[in-house]
Amino acid sequence: MTQKVFYQGEIVDESSVSISIRSKAFNYGLACFEGIRAYWDDEEEQLYGFCMKEHYDRLLESCKCLNMKIPYTSEELCDYTVELLKANNCKTTTYIRPIVYKGAETLKPSLMEMDDRIIIYTQPLDSYSGKDELRVAVSSWRRISDTSLPPRTKATAGYLNSALAGLEVISKGYDEAIFLTNAGFVCEGPGENIFFVKNDKLITPPPSDDILEGITRALVMKLAKEELGMEVVERSVARTELYNSQEVFFSGTAMEVTAVVEADDRRIGTGHEGEVCRKLKEIFAKVGVGKIDKYKYLTIPVW
Ligand SMILES: Cc1ncc(COP(=O)(O)O)c(C=O)c1O
Repeated sequence: MTQKVFYQGEIVDESSVSISIRSKAFNYGLACFEGIRAYWDDEEEQLYGFCMKEHYDRLLESCKCLNMKIPYTSEELCDYTVELLKANNCKTTTYIRPIVYKGAETLKPSLMEMDDRIIIYTQPLDSYSGKDELRVAVSSWRRISDTSLPPRTKATAGYLNSALAGLEVISKGYDEAIFLTNAGFVCEGPGENIFFVKNDKLITPPPSDDILEGITRALVMKLAKEELGMEVVERSVARTELYNSQEVFFSGTAMEVTAVVEADDRRIGTGHEGEVCRKLKEIFAKVGVGKIDKYKYLTIPVW
C-alpha cells in the first residue's frame, strides 16, 4: 500500500510530495521536528497516540523560537495525526514524525521568509536500540548550547551534533553516546535524556544544562515521584558521577526507558538493569496503552 503523509493540510500519497533542492530546509537545516509514538495494544486491538498533545505543543514552541508559522493548533495536529494513522492502517507500534520546514528557495540562510510547510509521516517502530542494557561512552563532541544552536528547538540542524557523537562512539562498538555540556557536565544522549539513581534519589540534569526537555523525561520524573515515592532532583551532574551511580538510564520517545549498564568501560551498579529502571519501565509500558486510569489522559485511541 502506498504510504500516506500529511502535507500542508491534506492527507496525500507520499510519492506526490517533493521538496525542492533549493529549499532552506535542505540547504541549511532550517526545520524543526518532533518524534511521537503510538503504542499498539494487542489485548484491546487498539492503537494509542501517546503524549501527542504535549509533542505538538513543543513543536509549536520550537516554531515560535525559529520564526516559523503553521496555521494549526496542537489539537488540530492531533486530529490530523489520528486521521493519518488510520489512512496508513497502522496496527502496530508506530513512530510519527512531524517536520516543519522553511520551504523558501532564496539563497540566504534566513528565517525571515515565511514559506513554512509541515509534513507528518509514520513508520513502524518497535525497540529503537534493540537492547535492554546499553554500553555508552562520553563523546569528545560537546553538546550544542542554548547560546548557539538551541537544543530546545529540536532543529534538524542540531542533529548533526548527535550524528557526530554517534559516529565517534558507535563506530568503536558502544551502543550510544553521552554528551557533556561546554562546562563539562553530563547533558544527555544524542536523542534521549539521562537519569541517575544515587542514594536512592533520582537525579537528572536541569533544562539550563542544554538538554532537550523531554516529554518522556517529564513523565519519568512524575512516575518516580508519584508511583515510586522517590525524591527527584534536577541538578548538574559531574562526569565521574556516571561511573559511581547505583543506576543510570535513558528516557526518550524512541529510546523509551532503557538501562545504561556501562559507561566509558566502567560497570555501573551491578552491571545490569536496576530496580528503579525496571519498575519505571513496567509502569511506563502500562501508561503507554492507557492501562492506568490516572494517566489515561496521555493517550488518544486511534481505532
Ligand atoms: C536530543 C534529545 N534529547 C532528549 C530526547 C527525548 O525527548 P522526548 O522524551 O520528548 O522524546 C530527544 C528526543 O526527541 C532528543 O532528540
